[in-house]
Amino acid sequence: MSAPKKLFIKTYGCQMNVYDSERMAEAMGGAGYTETHDVSDADMILLNTCHIREKAAEKVYSELGRFRDLKDARPDLKIGVAGCVAQAEGEEIMRRQPLVDLVVGPQSYHRLPEMAARLALGEKALDTDFPEEDKFEQLKARPKAKRGPTAFLTVQEGCDKFCAFCVVPYTRGAEVSRPAGRILDEARGLVERGVREITLLGQNVNAYHGAGPQGGDWSLARLIWALSEVDGLERIRFTTSHPNDMSDDLIEAHGSCAKLMPYLHLPVQSGSDRILKRMNRKHTAQSYLKVIERIRAARPDILLSGDFIVGFPEETDADFQDTLRLIEAVGYGTAYSFKYSTRPGTPAANRAQVDAGVADERLRRLQALLTEQQHAVQQSMVGRDVSVLFEKPGRMLGQMVGKSEYLHAVHVVAPDIQPGDIARVRITESGTNSLAGVLVTV
Ligand code: 5AD
Ligand code: SF4
Repeated sequence: MSAPKKLFIKTYGCQMNVYDSERMAEAMGGAGYTETHDVSDADMILLNTCHIREKAAEKVYSELGRFRDLKDARPDLKIGVAGCVAQAEGEEIMRRQPLVDLVVGPQSYHRLPEMAARLALGEKALDTDFPEEDKFEQLKARPKAKRGPTAFLTVQEGCDKFCAFCVVPYTRGAEVSRPAGRILDEARGLVERGVREITLLGQNVNAYHGAGPQGGDWSLARLIWALSEVDGLERIRFTTSHPNDMSDDLIEAHGSCAKLMPYLHLPVQSGSDRILKRMNRKHTAQSYLKVIERIRAARPDILLSGDFIVGFPEETDADFQDTLRLIEAVGYGTAYSFKYSTRPGTPAANRAQVDAGVADERLRRLQALLTEQQHAVQQSMVGRDVSVLFEKPGRMLGQMVGKSEYLHAVHVVAPDIQPGDIARVRITESGTNSLAGVLVTV
């Protein structure tokens, strides 16, 4: 038998890509590849790419250029591009960078082993179809290595919302929800392998409406309740959501499902109704605030996170002020903010762009406000007891790091704690991006 080949995967972008990379590594495991974390050792390099902003896509091409020396030294080395750049640009990637042997879109990963076999014959391979078959079923996890205490689980893919700035509906396609039974099976399998916290993933995860095991559609809330019955699974999270899909049962679950963690990422993008309309968001600042109010009524301590875009075409100073006002009104625990990036093929691409310097300045101001809020929320944790799921050793001797229920990273000196343990911790200090604390002994 020949020695196993080595696969190096580099993942860009969102958590769904992290999940997809794991599934690709498993699929290629079946084709005789083992994963390596050393690129110079690889027989195949796969870049799992992100197309959400221009910079993310450009990074892929500059990274590919860096593989030239490796490939010159070892002509057998195969180079593949997966993910959303692969979907969006297809064959163009091979034209622009002839080093590339394989291009595979996010819906075709289950065909990777077949494609790799074609490469072995000296061919190139391209697949950016949206096939009928369920890739997750085809990719079913193979024999079961032990895992860390947290895992992602994709339950829904694609998006039907068509925000005017966003490539997702084009790169990931229409909304598809996986059947609930398959998700429950996968979750049980993860728990058997040591997982205690699962984050349910979807581009528009709260629009989940998968087939239930006994027929009928299940909502995300129903799925969460069913998952909460899985013994050994202690924590459930989900991301990313659209404000219009925060249904009554999901809001209610935040108040009553003990395993659903008090953290919610709910992007709003802008606080100006004029811009929200032009973004095709289909909600107003007021309707977003109303949803937040209802969520906080159900779960008063919930930590809120969001996404913001500044410099969307035609955004004025007054529009930007509205965004700052909305941020003031909500009080975010953490948030992600971006300068608008023109994406070819999206409706906003041809509109009048905001001056780059103006957008830079707005981003700076917005981030200053969000950082201030983040630190205020972190500071408010000092003196409180939180529950921490420990993940790994920290940098200092005897230190362990984990996440609180609010998703704050927490450092504790606790030599007897193991990854996977959940313990009460009293927060003693707030750092730049994490908290420190001591074990609460009873
Ligand atoms: N420019 C800037 N930010 C964008 N996002 C999506 N598309 C763009 C774009 N063209 C941001 C949104 C979204 C997050 C995942 O990325 O804030 O919620
Ligand atoms: Fe993109 Fe999210 Fe809007 Fe869908 S809801 S188009 S994924 S920003």
